[in-house]
Amino acid sequence: MYGYRAERDQGRSSDERSSSSGGAERRRTFVFRTRSVHRAKRGLCDAATTQTILPKMTKFPPTTLDVPLRELLRTLAQACVQIAAKLRTAGLSTDVLGAAGDINIQGEQQQKLDVLANNILTDALRSLASVAAIVSEEDDEPIVLSESDTAKYLVIFDPLDGSSNIDINGPTGTIISIMERKSGAPAKTASLQCGSQQVAAMYVLYGPSTVLVYTTGEGAHGYTLDPVSGEFLLSSSNMQMPESGPYYSTNESNLSEYPVAFQKAIEGFRTGTLTGTKLGARYIGALVADFHRTLLKGGIYLYPPTKKTPHGKLRLLYEANPLALIAHEAGGAATNGATDILNIDPEIPHQRVPLVIGSKNAVEAVRTLVKADA
Ligand code: AHG
Ligand code: MN
Ligand code: MN
Repeated sequence: MYGYRAERDQGRSSDERSSSSGGAERRRTFVFRTRSVHRAKRGLCDAATTQTILPKMTKFPPTTLDVPLRELLRTLAQACVQIAAKLRTAGLSTDVLGAAGDINIQGEQQQKLDVLANNILTDALRSLASVAAIVSEEDDEPIVLSESDTAKYLVIFDPLDGSSNIDINGPTGTIISIMERKSGAPAKTASLQCGSQQVAAMYVLYGPSTVLVYTTGEGAHGYTLDPVSGEFLLSSSNMQMPESGPYYSTNESNLSEYPVAFQKAIEGFRTGTLTGTKLGARYIGALVADFHRTLLKGGIYLYPPTKKTPHGKLRLLYEANPLALIAHEAGGAATNGATDILNIDPEIPHQRVPLVIGSKNAVEAVRTLVKADA
């Protein structure tokens, strides 16, 4: 309404405008709305949003981190900003949506955006002397960048998680684990360490907002992308996962294929016999988004073994490990049913694992059922 009045007023002289009742007020509103409209047209946030976030502009990554790790995290975050930009306008380009035509080592159809996101991250990392090797879901083998002693980091990632959501404008994410190379270890296999050895873990959720959550072992912290500055700004420090929560999350169409203990767990959550109260069902089909909800609201996410995927579907190194470290730092837990995710020794880079992750009480309840059935 104000925008309409302001446009109408544009055709009048300044005297006419200021003499009419509330003219000064409308002029102020006009300036405000005009800036908003220009920003909105450029795909940026509106003035009100900018004004609200200005007072607490703590940028990612924090200045308290060691310089090489800070530089690495900054590079990764900026690569994710590029991925977010590709996703935001995906429908406007013929090069972004749809299948790429190749099958990755997991036997999965690669989407163009899987490949694009992988290239953005990999190219960004090539410029850093601190990176020894990259392990990506989309590359069959680890990419060795340097065997030099100064190249101490191993960067392990799922460039685009939740690929089935790409074409429907649903939430997707990027998941990253960072390890340090043990002295003398060949870069190619150095990332085969258990998750407790991670020096940092991070994910970016591309949803209505682009949100980054990370840990370096000192709590889990959340940042939100400010589209005006292109910086991630602190939005929640020391995130805590509720000890129990309102939702369980699993691909229920696989239920009949789950081992009995997991079937009992789902039944217990659904009916309330396991947790005291009946949990609601939520499943987005993108691990990052399902995990983010679980981190904020509490509850549990389960991807148990199935007939098709007897070792689980999700990957230990770049899906389960980083999210398990973040869950742990936020007071939650993660297990494959029998062993804490962070204590599993990997044998191969693309190793799969059953994943149960979320609020401490709910994860503990599943652990107890699995133990009783063993
Ligand atoms: P990705 O897109 O990286 O291959 O990961 C897909 C994963 C995960 O994001 C999601 O939670 C799960 O696959 C969904 O699997 P289902 O379709 O079998 O439920
Ligand atoms: Mn994934
Ligand atoms: Mn992926």
